[in-house]
Amino acid sequence: MSASALSADPSPRNSVWFAAAYPLRAHNTFGFDVRARYACRVESEADFVAAVRDSRAQGLRTLVLGGGSNVVLTRDFDGLVLLVALAGKRVVHEDGDAWYVQAAAGENWHDFVAWTLAAGMPGLENLALIPGTVGAAPIQNIGAYGLEMGDRCAAVRAIEVETGRPYEFDAAACEFGYRDSFFKREGRDRFVITAVTFRLPKSWQPNAGYADLAREIAQRGLSEAQCAQDVFDAVVAVRRAKLPDPRVLGNAGSFFKNPVIEGEQFDALVMREPGVVSYPQADGRVKLAAGWLIDQCGWKGRALRLAAVHERQALVLVNRGGATGADILELAQAIRHDVFARFGVELEQEPISF
Ligand code: EPU
Repeated sequence: MSASALSADPSPRNSVWFAAAYPLRAHNTFGFDVRARYACRVESEADFVAAVRDSRAQGLRTLVLGGGSNVVLTRDFDGLVLLVALAGKRVVHEDGDAWYVQAAAGENWHDFVAWTLAAGMPGLENLALIPGTVGAAPIQNIGAYGLEMGDRCAAVRAIEVETGRPYEFDAAACEFGYRDSFFKREGRDRFVITAVTFRLPKSWQPNAGYADLAREIAQRGLSEAQCAQDVFDAVVAVRRAKLPDPRVLGNAGSFFKNPVIEGEQFDALVMREPGVVSYPQADGRVKLAAGWLIDQCGWKGRALRLAAVHERQALVLVNRGGATGADILELAQAIRHDVFARFGVELEQEPISF
């Protein structure tokens, strides 16, 4: 495991574009209508260093926004928002076994996945259509349909906020876990991710065992996925059918993590609730489908004022238009209460709230 400081400090520019009282509605996928005291568009590592050293930023909190697909903004942000817009993607290395592809933090995730496939480099197709940017992907180790981003990550490049120095983290140093990483915990306010390098193995195998995905592939008349594009198309179809498009209905994907409980607690639970959807873990613990728990409590499709539970996936909370972040958190609290009262299981929020 290693996280190494790189030698070259980016030399900051003298000035960088700042906007005051900046509207964030277009920068968070819930579509909450809040403002930042200042916002700054960051197109390079040098821009980033200039922004945090600017006199207007001194003493202010900073918030890094990529696609804004994993945040709940509950009020105006009295600080500096850094709008990550670093662009570029390229193959940095190739050997007999794999391609190594680097993308800058501001690249749109789904467009990047599509680009790798079009260039003949499969391996990320299960993660198609996940909203957000490449730079946000490692923070919560985005995952879907049997694959996590950490499974394909070779390295993450990040700037240390305090010193402006770039670091390179190998995959072990990122400490990827289920919707978790170093960058979501200890690294959260310390580092800003500027680029990610992926290792895409040349020996491709379809990863299409996940129930929804296998069903979709069978429905398309394919006995099994023949190529990465088949998997990509099936993932896109499943996501479109179940998950709301944030451009149409504000949301941040799954609002809760699937809870992992001890084996003994599961044994007692399954006696009372034999239908509980569960996934045994290698360590003897058991992961539960939070969507099922919430659904069983009767929350699917229900609303609390303008905040609601999605009609086709109870794990997704939506802004029906005009809801605030506080409305969403109040709804989440009511759901958490009911799930705990019935199942004795605590739900943990997936997006970060401010
Ligand atoms: N279920 C219900 N009712 C619901 C929702 C789900 O009974 O309203 C049941 C389903 O029938 C299924 C089980 O719960 O048996 C799991 O549902 P699903 O396959 O839809 O997946 P999930 O566990 O709810 C996770 C990820 C998603 C990811 C999908 C597919 C988390 C927190 N969520 O959802 O990720 O797309 O698996 O891999 O791990 C995200 O993180 O934002 C996200 C969308």
